[in-house]
Amino acid sequence: MSWPFPTELSSCAEKLIRGRHASRAFRPEPVPEDTMRRIFSLAGAAPSNSNAQPWQVEVASGAARERLAGALRTAHAERRTSVDFPYAEQMYGPVHQRRRAAFGAELYGALGIAPDDHAARAAYDAESLSFYGAPHVAFLFVHGDGEARLAADVGAYMQTLLLAMTAYGVDSCPQGLLSFYADTVRAELGITGGKLIVGISFGYADETAPVNRVKTERAPLESSTAFHD
Ligand SMILES: Cc1cc2nc3c(=O)[nH]c(=O)nc-3n(C[C@H](O)[C@H](O)[C@H](O)COP(=O)(O)O)c2cc1C
Repeated sequence: MSWPFPTELSSCAEKLIRGRHASRAFRPEPVPEDTMRRIFSLAGAAPSNSNAQPWQVEVASGAARERLAGALRTAHAERRTSVDFPYAEQMYGPVHQRRRAAFGAELYGALGIAPDDHAARAAYDAESLSFYGAPHVAFLFVHGDGEARLAADVGAYMQTLLLAMTAYGVDSCPQGLLSFYADTVRAELGITGGKLIVGISFGYADETAPVNRVKTERAPLESSTAFHD
């Protein structure tokens, strides 16, 4: 074996990083406030370009969460979407489209929704605006001009946050779908600045829900990573 050797931390990292996965059904019990503060403090250790930390995080629980879920349902019913970061199916290349389709088949299969049942898929998406039943949701806003380089910093924050949650036994689901209702989220939380990139529903997973048994694979190392000498 060559230097550097795996350390005690490497086995923790393997467990932590591979142990995180998206949960889509939650129990109602809230995360204790002290645990919540520890998690979000830890997430703040994320790296960012020149240490600018261009993120703003808005966490909704309790009555605020209920109001938000209601407002999102109404916005959805009225087709009032608003995005800060434009979205287009075409932004994915063919190989990425294939992976997305395979994931969709896996997810909707676990839910018992047939591949061509677009109405059932749409109903499930609408339902997910209630944060999959999670008692908390964190919205990540990109500050500054909100362009790609700043969004990359907030991406680093997001993964640090997801791992911090995992470390404290808290389950999560990042939901890009929530960012399609940016104006509704801002209005409900009384926020004026920033661009909404993602919402993260979190709490304790309902381990009995079949949807939480969905396992995702990853492409082999060689397909994404080249080592140059
Ligand atoms: C930026 C981002 C947006 C996502 N948006 C959604 C979403 O809107 N709804 C959802 O159910 N899952 C969403 N996910 C979760 C992904 O589907 C999930 O991370 C991926 O399939 C890999 O599975 P794993 O997280 O269980 O490893 C999102 C993940 C990321 C990182």
